[in-house]
Amino acid sequence: EDAFFKKVTAAKTDFPVGVEALYEAAQKKFEKNPFGYIYSGASGEETLRNNRRAFERWAIVPRFLTDVSEVDTSVTLFDKTYATPILFAPVGMQKLAHEEAELATSRAAAKFGIPFIQSTVSSYSIESIREATTDSPKWFQLYWSTVDEELPKSMVQRAERAGYEAIVLTIDTVRIGWRETDLRNQFSPLKGGLGKANYVEDPVFQRSLRDDSEEALIDALVQHVHHPTLGWEQIEKLQSWTDLPIVLKGILHPEDAKEAVARGIDGIVVSNHGGRQLDGVIASLDALPAVAEAVAGRIPVLFDSGVRSGVDVVKALALGADAVCVGRPYIYALGIDGERGVTTWVEHLLEEVTASIALAGANSVKQVRKLTLVENK
Ligand code: FNR
Repeated sequence: EDAFFKKVTAAKTDFPVGVEALYEAAQKKFEKNPFGYIYSGASGEETLRNNRRAFERWAIVPRFLTDVSEVDTSVTLFDKTYATPILFAPVGMQKLAHEEAELATSRAAAKFGIPFIQSTVSSYSIESIREATTDSPKWFQLYWSTVDEELPKSMVQRAERAGYEAIVLTIDTVRIGWRETDLRNQFSPLKGGLGKANYVEDPVFQRSLRDDSEEALIDALVQHVHHPTLGWEQIEKLQSWTDLPIVLKGILHPEDAKEAVARGIDGIVVSNHGGRQLDGVIASLDALPAVAEAVAGRIPVLFDSGVRSGVDVVKALALGADAVCVGRPYIYALGIDGERGVTTWVEHLLEEVTASIALAGANSVKQVRKLTLVENK
């Protein structure tokens, strides 16, 4: 019996298979405004569309007649080996999708040893997620604060104490992108108080509140999240606060990547925030080859924005990524069926990754990186 076939055909009956079905099921399940917040991109969504188009433009030219009976999907990042080349991208305010939010998604990630990157604006705090998934790999995504730099410092220390293994500083969100769907819906999850968990549990944040009202809390939250002054000077401070690997998320230009390497940054994520920040920027996959070339293997290059399938994972690896983060799809799975939904979705993704690597004629991630890709005519 083919275990893969059995699994997929069995799963078909109770969980959507493939990105279209996943999206449709999520759309049915979610309320309009949260769904709008999750799926949409900034402005006219040019970048959101191009993130997908870029994947469709690249084609794998497979090799055959090599032994692909065993496929090793493991990758090594910061001296630690992970069973899969996948990470969960930081997605804030997951209560938008499901009451159990990050508790459910981090537990699902833990089952596969997938690093869970927790957002600063998550629905559950660093400490409660640590409690939910003690031994699994967790990284902390940091939004800087211009108002009080003691706050990011405090959050980094909390993440360190809780055993988080890396700090992912997001550099493309100095302010929020022009999100037209949310404007039309008059929807602002941050102003609605979602995403406050890490803040309200922080002594530095508490100290910055003018009074006990919900209004004061939201005002402070919105102020802290924006950080238009973020620059290399602040990154040096971050480096002095922690020995954890520091990863910059949102690199698109090869010169920024080179600068990061020169300044002792430990890793980068090539990302355009899933098309949610500046619209009209280069598709993340189009930015990847030049960035990977500039980095030249000196530090890990992670990738996100537009990954929807196992084939996409293979393409991103082949174009220079050391590992790949997924965003929206695991949130759709969360909304559809909580932890169980995310688990099933990951099972599908990993089966497809393994099958795609073998079908392309490779048997390890290292070999995937030597595959031939051409641009479709
Ligand atoms: C995000 N993303 C994000 N990134 C980040 O650094 N901190 C955050 O809090 C969030 N929050 C967030 C919320 C929602 C609803 C989405 C969809 C995305 C961006 C995320 O980490 C990642 O870059 C993109 O989601 C990747 O693109 P795909 O996989 O969604 O196409």
